[in-house]
Amino acid sequence: MSKSAKIEWLLANYTNDSNASYEMLSGYWHNQPEVQKLHDEFIENTLSNYFMPFGVAPNFLINNEMYAIPMAIEESSVVAAASKAANFWLDRGGFHAQVISTVKIGHVHFIWEGNDVSLLTKVFEANKSKFVENAAGITKNMVARGGGILDVTLKDKSDLEPGYFQLEARFETCDSMGANFINSCLESFAHTWQVIVSENEEILGDSSLQIVMSILSNFTPECLVRAEVRCKIDQINEGGGIGNYEFAEKFCRAIRIATVEPYRAVTHNKGIMNGIDAVVIATGNDFRATEACAHAYAAKNGRYSSLTHAAIEGDEFVFWIELPLSLGTVGGITSLHPMVKFAHELLGYPSAQQLMLITAVAGLAQNFSAVRSLITSGIQKGHMKMHLLNILNQLEATDLEKATIVEYFKDKVVSHSAAVEIFTKIRGGWNPASSAGSANLDTLAGN
Ligand code: MEV
Repeated sequence: MSKSAKIEWLLANYTNDSNASYEMLSGYWHNQPEVQKLHDEFIENTLSNYFMPFGVAPNFLINNEMYAIPMAIEESSVVAAASKAANFWLDRGGFHAQVISTVKIGHVHFIWEGNDVSLLTKVFEANKSKFVENAAGITKNMVARGGGILDVTLKDKSDLEPGYFQLEARFETCDSMGANFINSCLESFAHTWQVIVSENEEILGDSSLQIVMSILSNFTPECLVRAEVRCKIDQINEGGGIGNYEFAEKFCRAIRIATVEPYRAVTHNKGIMNGIDAVVIATGNDFRATEACAHAYAAKNGRYSSLTHAAIEGDEFVFWIELPLSLGTVGGITSLHPMVKFAHELLGYPSAQQLMLITAVAGLAQNFSAVRSLITSGIQKGHMKMHLLNILNQLEATDLEKATIVEYFKDKVVSHSAAVEIFTKIRGGWNPASSAGSANLDTLAGN
């Protein structure tokens, strides 16, 4: 079916008011047909576009360079939290980040039912160079860019599943995330391996080889980045009635709780991923891969734990994150999606390694703001202020009503019921500037 035929069919069969649904869907089409066509062709059966807010968190000082970080996210407070942390650390030396390693991994998973593993190893070792040689057509361009296949090893996993072995390969994919490159290499390895095994029947006997699958791993613990902030404890100046040392101690305790208690660790890491995913999405990377990998890494020691760490070192407070981030700045939709291209421009067209640093910093900043709020004012005070516009939009408040209500809540705690009550009063003609009304509303707002 054509796109319009698909829409017609879908709306007729699955919606109550197909005219209204058509208006809504077509309202989200891009006004430049060639841009819409790009979106249509990103995926299959495209009907329309799905908007997400694209914001920016400015004032990030990372390795002595200033960045305004693009973030695509639907959740209120996240951009504000990142920006707040950026400001806080701007006055305290900024963020320092380094890429520890960039190696990616993939496997040919296969079953071999022979008895003597040493024979299989012998055949593998004698023919190992063929994997790289036979994949030369695939690796040519990557090698020219400084990447390629780093090594291929044989792994015996038969203690986990009868007859289960792997060809495990390591790759350097430079500025691309490298999924297509890695998967193409692995499929070539699988073919080469089948030929090698069949050509060595004399050594291996007629033991059968079954290639189960050839696929990269999204768990990339060797594609690792670290970002940190540090300052003298007496420079914390948090205010709000908490002393500098007490803040540092309480912060470290909160991180220790997230380290040992998985219930807290999941929420804690979710907050980190608020920052990371927003940058990953804005820059056109694969947030499902990033999420899966980060959570696997958080559980690498057998218990799900915090991705961030904090310590008091002498008179300094130190806070850092270490996590694997497999990102690309070329390939995928990076040169196709106009907003993604804009995000890369904002960041000064970073390399994949630079993007790893920036993204890790966004996660660390997010976590800093969340934990800072949690151990001082609580999370709701700031969050509900940011969420207020969503509540007012649900109530279909006018711009004037929104401005009046936002002003009213400037020095008060926002709750859903207080916002609804005040909205109802204002709709009824009440003026919050009148002092009698204000006292009344203070009670409603729980102040
Ligand atoms: C909300 O999206 C994220 C937080 O729950 C993170 C955290 O608790 O650290 C605020």
